[in-house]
Amino acid sequence: MQNFVLHLPTKIIFGRDTIKNIGPETAAFGGRILLVYGSGSIKQNGIYDRVTVSLAQAGLTVIEHPGVKSNPVLSHVREGIRLAKEHKVEAVVAVGGGSVIDSAKAICAGAEVNHDVWLFFKGKKGVKSKLPLTCVLTLAAAGSEMNGGMVITNEETSQKFGTGNQLLKPEVSILDPTATFTVPPSYTAYGAVDAIAHLLEFYFTTSDPATPVQDRFMEGLTINIMESCRKVLTRPDDYQARADLMWCATLALNGLTAAGLGMVGFPMHMIEHSLSALYDVPHGAGLSVVMPAWMKWRAAEAPAKFAQLARRVFAVEEKDQYLAALEGIERLKSWFRESGSPVSLRDLDIPESAIPALADNSMALAAIWRLKEYDSAVVSSILSNCR
Ligand code: NZQ
Ligand code: ZN
Repeated sequence: MQNFVLHLPTKIIFGRDTIKNIGPETAAFGGRILLVYGSGSIKQNGIYDRVTVSLAQAGLTVIEHPGVKSNPVLSHVREGIRLAKEHKVEAVVAVGGGSVIDSAKAICAGAEVNHDVWLFFKGKKGVKSKLPLTCVLTLAAAGSEMNGGMVITNEETSQKFGTGNQLLKPEVSILDPTATFTVPPSYTAYGAVDAIAHLLEFYFTTSDPATPVQDRFMEGLTINIMESCRKVLTRPDDYQARADLMWCATLALNGLTAAGLGMVGFPMHMIEHSLSALYDVPHGAGLSVVMPAWMKWRAAEAPAKFAQLARRVFAVEEKDQYLAALEGIERLKSWFRESGSPVSLRDLDIPESAIPALADNSMALAAIWRLKEYDSAVVSSILSNCR
């Protein structure tokens, strides 16, 4: 167990019929707000009406900034910062999934500085303050609703970079599982894959040899994510399963699982972000391709932890450690495939010939994230495991 500091300031309001709290919770921070949302799902499923009624009843002046796209882009964030400054907004409300919440975080931080917001993502500037942020989560996946991370694509340079800061954690996030009833099966599966990836990035990259508390916490969340996702794919309005999946996705990346692990890395994400940057692949769909490939590569030299996951999560009985590791990876890959998430570059219509460009694209993020052992040749060899 390594030393750690864990500070989880975000107020979570969880459960059925909680969206009506967004107005009063936001009014605590000011009277003029920027409402950030995506390409329209909230207008089709009624969440937009419930949010705007609550904001109006709380007496708030609302400036809207719709149009966040999945894999959100820098140009839209810059426009949001311009709006926030022009209207001197006092808080930002994000209604959507990780793309919307991440864009809102970047707007909250960018509105407080005179330099370009992209400098935060290049590691050239640190976040010193942000506008208050309240969220209504509509998709169980990224965990952005309770963490200090944000990921934006610079469409001019085809770079998708993530950065983090304790100050970026939302003040309040409302998690109403019924808000996710309309999430299509594809994004339900991609969200589950993303949440599992958040757990396994830490699980496999900690250098601490003895982390029984964190291991069983992450193994248990992984099992719960797979079980609840399976139920939701069968019945999209299964409240209990949607609630379990939503809370697991938040717990997977709010800092709790990583506490005590010491230094960890995000190599699978580093590689996936290049698939999304260059081919606009949904984040979870890219991860279900990259994860088994990276796991196979890493298990070849250090099979123990992969064998442990195989035995504890997939009940693999194989005695040989390396064979057990491989069997566990295969079973995870089959689960991805059966859930409707892609497992090869071919499934994503990405040609094998794209591997060198993908590997080169990932080097900038590898440098910022200090993933020193990953050069272009290593990433190419990992990607050749998932052609
Ligand atoms: O455009 P809208 O209307 O929002 O539609 C979205 C979008 O098309 C739709 N959707 C969301 N909620 C829905 C819904 N459709 C019907 N009913 C609902 N209730 O789903 C699509 C995907 O939404 P998106 O927000 O892109 O998905 P997700 O939540 O998986 O977020 C992905 C983004 O999160 C970043 C990823 O890089 C990616 O850009 N991540 C953020 C992290 C963080 N902040 O810590 C960590 C993660 O590893 C991840 O990198
Ligand atoms: Zn992720």
